[in-house]
Amino acid sequence: MSKKNLNIGLIGYGFMGRTHSNAFLQAGRFFDLPYKPTLKAVCARNPDRVKSFAANWGYESIETDWRAMIERPDIDLIDIASPNDTHAEIAIAAARAGKMVMCEKPLGRNAAEALAMTEAVEAASVPNMVWYNYRRVPGVVLIKQLLDEGKFGRIFHYRAKFLQDWTISQDLPQGGEGLWRLDVAVAGSGVTGDLLAHNIDTAMWLNGPITEVSAVTETFIKERKHNLTGDVQPVGIDDASAFICRFENGSLATFEATRYARGHKALYTLEINGEHASAFWDLHDLHRIQYFDHQDEGRVRGWRNVHITDGDHPYMKHWWVPGLQIGYEHTFTHQFADFLQATGEGRSSAPTFRDGLATDRVTDAVLKSAKSRKWETV
Ligand SMILES: NC(=O)c1ccc[n+]([C@@H]2O[C@H](COP(=O)([O-])OP(=O)(O)OC[C@H]3O[C@@H](n4cnc5c(N)ncnc54)[C@H](O)[C@@H]3O)[C@@H](O)[C@H]2O)c1
Repeated sequence: MSKKNLNIGLIGYGFMGRTHSNAFLQAGRFFDLPYKPTLKAVCARNPDRVKSFAANWGYESIETDWRAMIERPDIDLIDIASPNDTHAEIAIAAARAGKMVMCEKPLGRNAAEALAMTEAVEAASVPNMVWYNYRRVPGVVLIKQLLDEGKFGRIFHYRAKFLQDWTISQDLPQGGEGLWRLDVAVAGSGVTGDLLAHNIDTAMWLNGPITEVSAVTETFIKERKHNLTGDVQPVGIDDASAFICRFENGSLATFEATRYARGHKALYTLEINGEHASAFWDLHDLHRIQYFDHQDEGRVRGWRNVHITDGDHPYMKHWWVPGLQIGYEHTFTHQFADFLQATGEGRSSAPTFRDGLATDRVTDAVLKSAKSRKWETV
C-alpha cells in the first residue's frame, strides 16, 4: 500500500520538541502507518538554535515566526510544543488554516481557552489530539483493558500523585527560558495545570468523569526574581495542590501534586480499588503494574508484580522480545502512531481537544475550590 506523505511543522524545540521529533522519526519504523511523516519545518524564535535543532533531527527547513509556518501550504500538521500561553492562539490559527493540530498539555491555560480551541478544531473538522502521553504507557493501557473487561467490578477508590522537588530553592527565579512554569501569566497555574492535569486525564480515561472537587493549594515561596525583568515579583502559581473528589460512578478519589517533595523527581503514581481487584502503577517503574485479584484461590492470593514486556501486552509486539522493556519516550511514539492510524481511518484519536477541555474544566474547579474553600462542581 502506498503511504500518503504527511508534512509536519513543529513549534518549540525544548523538552517536548525532542520527544515529539523522536516519535515522528520512530513511529513509522515500528508501526505500519497509513502516512509517511516528513519533518518539514521546525519553528522557534532563536534562528541559530532552531537551525542547529533542525540539523540534529533532520528537519528540512526552519521558521522563527509560527504565523509564517501556519501560512505554508506545504505543512499538513502543526504540532504545538511551546509554553502554555502560546497554545490557544497557535491552535486556533492552525485550525482555521485547515491544518491537523496536535497540542501539548494542558490544552489551554484555563477552560475558556481550551473551549475556544476545541470549537476551532471542531468547526474546521481537522484531526486533533492533546499529548497526554501517559495514556500510552503499556502498563496503564493494561489497567484500562482489565477495567473494561469488568475485572475490577464496582470501583470504590482512585488515588493519584505527581511529586517533584525542583523548585524548593528560594533563589530559583521565575519566568523565561526553562522557568516559564513558575510564571503564572505563561503557565496559567502551577502544579495543578502542569502535573495534576496528567493525573486527571488518566483518571477520567480509566474511571470516567469527575463531578465535584474540594481542594487546597499552597504557594510556599511568595516572591521570586523574574528572569526577564530582573524584578522581585509575587509568585502567582500554586506550588502544591491536593484535592478530593467524586466521580460520576460514585467512587471517591484523592489527588496530590507538588514540586516540594524532596527526593522525588517525577513520581507519578496511580491506584484504583474495585470490588474484585486493585491495581497500582508508578512512573519510576513504568514497565510494571501491581495487580491484586480477589478471585484468585485464597491460599495463593496476593499482589502480583506484572512485568509488561510480553507480545500480548499493549503495544509490546511492536518492540523487542518478551522480557525486554521500553521506556518514557515510547509513550510519545505510541501516541503519534495511534493518531496517524486513526486519522488514516477517518476516526479521531483520544485524547482529543474535547478531552483536553474536560481536564481543564476539572483543573479550573480545583483552583476555584482552593480559593473559595468550598466544594465546586465541575
Ligand atoms: N506531555 C508531557 O509529559 C509534557 C512534559 C513536559 C512539558 N509538556 C508541555 O509541553 C509544552 C512545552 O514544554 P517544554 O517542557 O518542552 O518547554 P521548554 O521550555 O523545554 O521548551 C519550550 C520551547 O518553546 C519555544 N517557544 C517559546 N515561545 C515560543 C513562541 N512564541 N514561538 C515559537 N516557539 C516558542 C522555546 O524556544 C522552546 O524551544 C508545555 O505546554 C508543557 O506543559 C508536556
